[in-house]
Amino acid sequence: MNLQYKKVKLYEEDDYKDYNIYYFDSIKNIYKLLKKPGITLSSVCSESERENFYYFVPERLNFIETENIKLNSELKTEIKKENILKVKNIIIKIVNNHFSEPRSGTLKGIENMINIIIDEYFGQYAILTNFARMSYKDYTTTIHSINVMSLTLGLSFFLKFPKNKVYNYGISGLLHDIGKTEISDTILKAERKLNQQEFEIIKKHPQIGVDILKDYSFPTEVIKGCIEHHERLDGSGYPNGIKEEMISEIGKILAIIDPFEAITSVDRPYKRKMPVEKALEIIFIEEGNKIDKNLFTKFVKNLGIVEKIF
Ligand SMILES: [Fe+2]
Ligand SMILES: [Fe+2]
Repeated sequence: MNLQYKKVKLYEEDDYKDYNIYYFDSIKNIYKLLKKPGITLSSVCSESERENFYYFVPERLNFIETENIKLNSELKTEIKKENILKVKNIIIKIVNNHFSEPRSGTLKGIENMINIIIDEYFGQYAILTNFARMSYKDYTTTIHSINVMSLTLGLSFFLKFPKNKVYNYGISGLLHDIGKTEISDTILKAERKLNQQEFEIIKKHPQIGVDILKDYSFPTEVIKGCIEHHERLDGSGYPNGIKEEMISEIGKILAIIDPFEAITSVDRPYKRKMPVEKALEIIFIEEGNKIDKNLFTKFVKNLGIVEKIF
């Protein structure tokens, strides 16, 4: 494939109105223009045909950049209006855009978004923790990542971490599963138990994530959260099976928040959503010796306060 073109998932029709879209003509071995700017996708093809389309990447990157500026200013406005549903929907759009081209340098753009969230919600751990509890039917890596980021920011505020640490941990929470953007949906969204071979593929996502992140100048904590969030204190985790003293604080925090978010979020294939208390009990019983008890207690305390405001 010509590197200038990239196959991308097309999300919302409107987002692509102003851009050229191409398709690959396999007989002539060239890319052909499918639509010009100003023409909607549905007027030239059906939804099921869209998977064969390509973007000219520089256009896509310009689009993400322009869109990001617009969305970040909307984000500020909606936070001020306390319109939490709108806030979350804007964040989903921003993150979806950035997760669609993580190897093209776009991830840097999410820093503005995190700065806005931290500035506007500084110290308000309850809001951010509750924010993570808003459920969405289509449970994607994006939704999971945003929820993990929110819970991590909430806990960091609760623990009164300094601002730069809150910031690094927030980015780490958001990007911990970035490697999953390169794992196929047929495995990620399988509505059955994964076989051993598929699970081995899933287990590669922390390393794929680090490979993506190494092209950026993110702080070490961001990388650590990505590579260590499936490690466990007793060395039973993956990918490196490292033990307690080797695992960073953000690695230990994400080892608690990541499974907590996954089991308390909307029903996922093969698994049912669980109430907060039950989820904490399960994590404690099943993972008690594998997670940092001190951090776990603090996380429960943080949630306990949040529960009271429901
Ligand atoms: Fe993960
Ligand atoms: Fe995760």
